[in-house]
Amino acid sequence: MSDFTQKKIDYKQYVVDSQLRYFKPHATKIEKSFAEEISFSLTQNFKFISPKFFYDKKGSNLFESICLLPEYYPTRTEISILKKLKDDLPSYLDENIQLVELGSGASVKTRLLLDIFTRLQTKTEYFPIDISEILTESSEQLLRDYDTLHITGIIDTYEGGLEFLKNYDEKKNLIIFLGSSYGNFTPDDGKLFLEKIFSTMKSGDLFLIGLDLVKDENILESAYDDSQGITAKFNLNVLSRINDELDADFNIDNFSHYSIYNKDDQRIEMNLKSLVSQSIIIGKSNLSLNLNKGELIHTEYSHKYKLSQITELLNCAGFQIKHTWLDDDSYFSVTLASKN
Ligand code: AVJ
Repeated sequence: MSDFTQKKIDYKQYVVDSQLRYFKPHATKIEKSFAEEISFSLTQNFKFISPKFFYDKKGSNLFESICLLPEYYPTRTEISILKKLKDDLPSYLDENIQLVELGSGASVKTRLLLDIFTRLQTKTEYFPIDISEILTESSEQLLRDYDTLHITGIIDTYEGGLEFLKNYDEKKNLIIFLGSSYGNFTPDDGKLFLEKIFSTMKSGDLFLIGLDLVKDENILESAYDDSQGITAKFNLNVLSRINDELDADFNIDNFSHYSIYNKDDQRIEMNLKSLVSQSIIIGKSNLSLNLNKGELIHTEYSHKYKLSQITELLNCAGFQIKHTWLDDDSYFSVTLASKN
């Protein structure tokens, strides 16, 4: 183990073998705990639970199931677009460019990119950035399948990981941010996030972002309220998680999944609806929560974009657009942008 110090944040380096190592901040930066965030977000006029809390073990598995649902078109559509990149993307890549992923590379999407990189390069460097330690499991699986791959995982927030990479080496990076995860941000937070990404990039670096597009309302609403009720389970599971981890007594039967498409704001809005007037104790958040019958707890935004808005978003943050790929139905988009 050795230490790599940057900007007063110490990262500890764990070397697993010659092709796998990872960095983790020494001391976790002063971040609010789950209990503190919940005690804040459920005592506002507009009650909400951040979508980042969906992904405990059970929630992650439910999300995997969502991705396979007939109604949930984003995952398979984005995969079909990424398959088309193998002919077009290489012309933008140089021999030494490294792949950086926001989120851990457990998916087939990462593999489609790695297929392109490893075909082009004799040695491929891949940097997944993820706050969750499952990163190490998925990395070992990748190394079994790509023998010229070298993985440096960064166990940190996206912002922290990108800041770390900024001063890490002189090589060019392609940063990928797939799955329309960006759609979770409010427009204001999203803009700040894009500016943050841009500020950590070197000149010549590339950014590839997958974004879901505005389409027929019925298609959107069924994608977030499927006939098998998996999305409902996924949404309700966050209450079970709060029960388990924060000593709360939510009765899941007293809530329903309530998801609508807000046309004006171009977003799916997911909520949990209280079916009765009730009060809930959340022990570790020191909270007694009263809910009226019909009251909503907001859990997720999933924004949808027009192509012109994607161009504007990226341009406003400083990026040059290189290319946008679409599927045949124009359901989803993958855009390559650069910092000049
Ligand atoms: C992982 C945020 C991209 O917004 O489509 C799927 C999450 N929520 N079904 C999305 C989600 C309900 C998903 N993202």
